[in-house]
Amino acid sequence: MLKKKVEDAINKQIQEELYSAYLYLSMSAYFSNKGLAGFANWFDVQQKEERDHAMKFYNYLLAHGSKVKLLKIDEPGHEWKSAIDVFKAGLKHEQHITECINNLVDIAEKEKDRATFNLLQWYIDEQVEEEENARTIIEKLSLIKTDSNGIFMLDKELSARVYVPLVIA
Ligand code: FEO
Repeated sequence: MLKKKVEDAINKQIQEELYSAYLYLSMSAYFSNKGLAGFANWFDVQQKEERDHAMKFYNYLLAHGSKVKLLKIDEPGHEWKSAIDVFKAGLKHEQHITECINNLVDIAEKEKDRATFNLLQWYIDEQVEEEENARTIIEKLSLIKTDSNGIFMLDKELSARVYVPLVIA
């Protein structure tokens, strides 16, 4: 069984990951409403990946005979000013998640919990990728500005993103 402090912190992180899924699902809907199916697809893949992140923690708790306590999930917001505004909000959120993961690492270290510390290495690597993905699209969108041809091309590019389910141990 995990120590109570670790168990509580992981339950809190499950909430953070599920909120992320909720936020990206809302962003996906925002783009669907605007007729940008590629952007919508990108966020749909993103929200599915977030559910996997939550489930990886969920299974980890159960594997240790610890308790899963699902917490309340806030409303994610429904309106953004522009496509770049959506990705900037997404990046800001990912930076917050990186901070959460780093705090979890601190707790695992303090509690001398090697297994949780090892699990978190996967999330640390994942966060580098998550922030980089958002940053790359923000850079593209700042070059495109309001050029509709550029938006159309990027929409096509983002439609190619495919969801690959995470193999959860
Ligand atoms: Fe699960 Fe995007 O952090």
